[in-house]
Amino acid sequence: MPLARSLSVTSLSGLEEWDEEFDLEDAVLFEIAWEVANKVGGIYTVIQTKARLTAEEWGENYFLVGPYVESNVRTQVELIEPTNPVLKRTIDQMNASGCKIYFGRWLIEGSPYVVLIDVGFTAWSLDRWKRELWEHCGIGVPWFDREANDAVLFGFLTAWLLGEVTQSEESPHIVAHFHEWLAGLGLVLCRQRQLPIATIFTTHATLLGRYLCAGSVDFYNNLAQFNVDKEAGDRQIYHRYCLERAAAHCTHVFTTVSQITAIEAEHLLKRKPDIITPNGLNVKKFSAMHEFQNLHAQSKSRIQEFVRGHFYGHLDFNLDKCLFLFIAGRYEFSNKGADVFLEALARLNYLLRVNHSDVTVIAFFIMPARTNNFNVETLKGQAVRKQLWDTAQTVKERFGKKLYESLLVGQLPDVSKMLDKEDFTIMKRAIFATQRQSQPPVCTHNMLEDSSDPILSCVRRIGLFNSSSDRVKIIFHPEFLSSTSPLLPMDYEEFVRGCHLGVFPSYYEPWGYTPGTECTVMGIPSISTNLSGFGCFMEEHIADPSAYGIYILDRRYKGVDESCNQLTSFLFQFCKQSRRQRIIQRNRTERLSDLLDWRYLGRFYIAARHMALAKAFPDTFIYEPEETASTAGFRYPRPASVPPSPALSRHSSPHHSEAEDNEEDERYDEELEAEKDRVNIRQPYTMPVKNKVDL
Ligand code: UDP
Ligand code: G6P
Ligand code: GLC
Repeated sequence: MPLARSLSVTSLSGLEEWDEEFDLEDAVLFEIAWEVANKVGGIYTVIQTKARLTAEEWGENYFLVGPYVESNVRTQVELIEPTNPVLKRTIDQMNASGCKIYFGRWLIEGSPYVVLIDVGFTAWSLDRWKRELWEHCGIGVPWFDREANDAVLFGFLTAWLLGEVTQSEESPHIVAHFHEWLAGLGLVLCRQRQLPIATIFTTHATLLGRYLCAGSVDFYNNLAQFNVDKEAGDRQIYHRYCLERAAAHCTHVFTTVSQITAIEAEHLLKRKPDIITPNGLNVKKFSAMHEFQNLHAQSKSRIQEFVRGHFYGHLDFNLDKCLFLFIAGRYEFSNKGADVFLEALARLNYLLRVNHSDVTVIAFFIMPARTNNFNVETLKGQAVRKQLWDTAQTVKERFGKKLYESLLVGQLPDVSKMLDKEDFTIMKRAIFATQRQSQPPVCTHNMLEDSSDPILSCVRRIGLFNSSSDRVKIIFHPEFLSSTSPLLPMDYEEFVRGCHLGVFPSYYEPWGYTPGTECTVMGIPSISTNLSGFGCFMEEHIADPSAYGIYILDRRYKGVDESCNQLTSFLFQFCKQSRRQRIIQRNRTERLSDLLDWRYLGRFYIAARHMALAKAFPDTFIYEPEETASTAGFRYPRPASVPPSPALSRHSSPHHSEAEDNEEDERYDEELEAEKDRVNIRQPYTMPVKNKVDL
């Protein structure tokens, strides 16, 4: 028997380096999730972005397992023959027994291997497996719940796959990391069949939490009191809840994405997570410091083009003084705080009007709903804009020709003759085409449930119809963004960069990629809440978050109306900032990106794997967490220079010079560097790339 290998880890709240004694030479990692190469929401982002770091650590011994969805595979996966002999044998055997399993490389950073399972192909086994689930685990899954049926098929197939792999003679140490309830059954079956596998279960939310919050429940004050079985039963999700709770209890190591969800899991799933595994991103550092600012300006001008078309005939506001705000994500109206955002926008509209502000706010809602394509009015807007552009080009060319001819004969042009009757006719015709009786539309698409749609219903109630007198305009784009869209041809990242502020007043948000992480790494300020994982994480790590453009709304200790007022005040203050203040604030926001990089946050996943190995194979691995008290967590210091909010700004004095600003910023940078060195935040946790293990 090999000697026990030891691992020492520091506090999970601290940032010190790892002791690299843990030897994974003969271990293999399977990571299983329904969102592997299959975009639904934030879990996809976790897995897709984390893959590079995980592949660096595990090399050829890292396999992601997900569902086979043809349209996704066509665009994201290169199908190949299994590289590993045991995996090849397993897949061949399963395929010969009536399954359809594919192997490939996921074409993302790190190019990890993926095993993709076509669950529909094995639907003939559903009844048999459901019976087995009932007999062995006492969980009954009703026929009408399609998602749960998929979870059953996916669970049995992954457990089958892993079971076969463990049968090989030279079976390595296997770690299987399952994400979310949809993949959780595979874990339960591995444990029930006593497979020699170290298991991890990460939940990115609790089912019951999401459902309870979406109703009218005072969730956080009653967490300890819920009768969980009854609540799940009342919402017809008891079977899903059982699958989730079973996975949380069967696993060696249970993790979740934030402290707030850990508390929720403890009450609703009745197990306290062993480790918090916060979500990161791969941070792109530009060689020129201000490159991201240039990108903001470029993307902003593309959004402005769209706005020109959308508001054609009503462009009575100054686009240069226009601020772009946005909320995005899965369409969970109240959980994601779209209700509070709309209410605050109505109040902001009032404030801007009574204060005679020359700022116009355009708030984008990017939340997918059921539609049957773009509406005519919206498409027409972009067509009209294009036509006006073409007209301007035509007239410009004619003008240029006359100017050239006049210069050729050595004369200065007679300006009054440069535009002739025909030019005026062309231009008049174009202007007539821009006349419009209706207001610019709020929604860009034809909604299938227009009359009951929560955003549209709320817009009708608060009366924000994009009229000329409104200082706040609303555009609801009920589809995720895409660079191939005929309307707003930008991908999500580009769009975020071009906006000024992301607004995410969530009531239920275990982490929240859209809210904070994605905005922050692109240097775009955002508003989140003290009920979101991201908001709480930033509050913990930054001395003065709002100075960095991270506004944290209080939705925990304030009532809805008070929260709306606070949000309105954040928005109003933001509108009062000068361009210079916004630029400084973006610089600050971007500096936080180190904190959200997988190079730093990946270590929590590493800890979870080590802990699982030590629990499952105690003779081979030892996990030794160090004394937690000794490691103080990293905290970004309060910036020394100008606070971004004009209300607080020492720079309201016109005599404050740019040189002084720069000096303060430099002083602050030095302070930050010193702090980062103290806690080693940029030091990535690296392990040598592993050799391929013959399973
Ligand atoms: N997103 C996207 N396109 C869009 C809007 C959002 O791809 O037009 C993605 C976004 O990048 C983020 C995910 O949707 O990664 C939403 O994740 P989040 O954690 O915010 O919320 P979830 O939907 O998982 O609750
Ligand atoms: C970036 C660009 C500047 C531009 C500014 C606009 O910083 O580098 O050239 O003036 O963005 O900022 P704003 O907040 O008004 O979009
Ligand atoms: C879930 C949560 C979201 C989180 C994401 C990734 O879908 O709703 O807050 O960011 O998972 O962990």
